[in-house]
Amino acid sequence: MKKLALVTGAKGGIGSAITEKLVQDDYRVIATHFTGGAECAKEWFDEKGFNQDQVLLFELDVTDTEQCATRIAELLREEGTVDVLVNNAGITRDSVFKKMDAAQWHDVINTNLNSLFNVTQPLFAAMCEKGGGRIINISSVNGQKGQFGQANYAAAKAGMMGFSKSLAAEGARAGVTVNVVAPGYTATPMVTAMREEVLESITNQIPMKRLAKPEEIAASVAYLASDAGAYITGETLSVNGGLYMQ
Ligand SMILES: NC(=O)c1ccc[n+]([C@@H]2O[C@H](COP(=O)([O-])OP(=O)(O)OC[C@H]3O[C@@H](n4cnc5c(N)ncnc54)[C@H](OP(=O)(O)O)[C@@H]3O)[C@@H](O)[C@H]2O)c1
Repeated sequence: MKKLALVTGAKGGIGSAITEKLVQDDYRVIATHFTGGAECAKEWFDEKGFNQDQVLLFELDVTDTEQCATRIAELLREEGTVDVLVNNAGITRDSVFKKMDAAQWHDVINTNLNSLFNVTQPLFAAMCEKGGGRIINISSVNGQKGQFGQANYAAAKAGMMGFSKSLAAEGARAGVTVNVVAPGYTATPMVTAMREEVLESITNQIPMKRLAKPEEIAASVAYLASDAGAYITGETLSVNGGLYMQ
């Protein structure tokens, strides 16, 4: 029987690459989607050439605590325990702090950090009871180093690391590992939508002089999910071309 993985924000740039890699590695992936509803998700599913045995589309607003609790409980009843959870959904609402409004702050904290409670809480106990599981949280280099205009985003992404270390301690005895992958700038719509001169100045600051490929982030996630990663927990794996070295 295939192992079950749940990836939030699966049809985004990095989420798509993670889903494709986990499908390649023979997982059945619960691919959560949000904007555009079922039709938009089906288009993505068809475009990627997935079949029902590989990917199950699952509509979920990761900011909605009640919806997550109800929908994920249903999912567990229908599909069984989730072996691998990838908390990947995320947004940016950049602004210098002086001009940042409360909505920009709360939207980012809700989507990027409170989502970790909403999605992980209904799954964690079942993983512990089963005696194993992998939780991989997608943070960011900007959560490690901070970034001008991203006080909201950096706060949420740094929060993910404290969360992950704490949950790693709680899950270790049951064989549930909790880790973070911290991508640097990655070639997805979130980044390629930037103005050309901004993108060029970012690329110039990266020692490898290029953006990450989404597949390079997905490979790290797959490693942490694999048997080879069984003894790694509470760690942050930076995938940033040398942009920030801890
Ligand atoms: N790209 C980068 O350079 C970079 C660097 C470091 C870290 N990251 C992180 O990597 C993750 C993926 O980023 P990406 O570049 O792939 O961005 P993306 O293409 O914009 O994908 C983000 C995904 O998040 C989902 N999402 C947003 N709000 C949601 C909500 N309320 N409920 C459920 N899902 C929601 C979206 O789902 P729908 O499309 O279904 O609405 C979207 O697919 C994010 O956490 C981001 O912060 C990205």
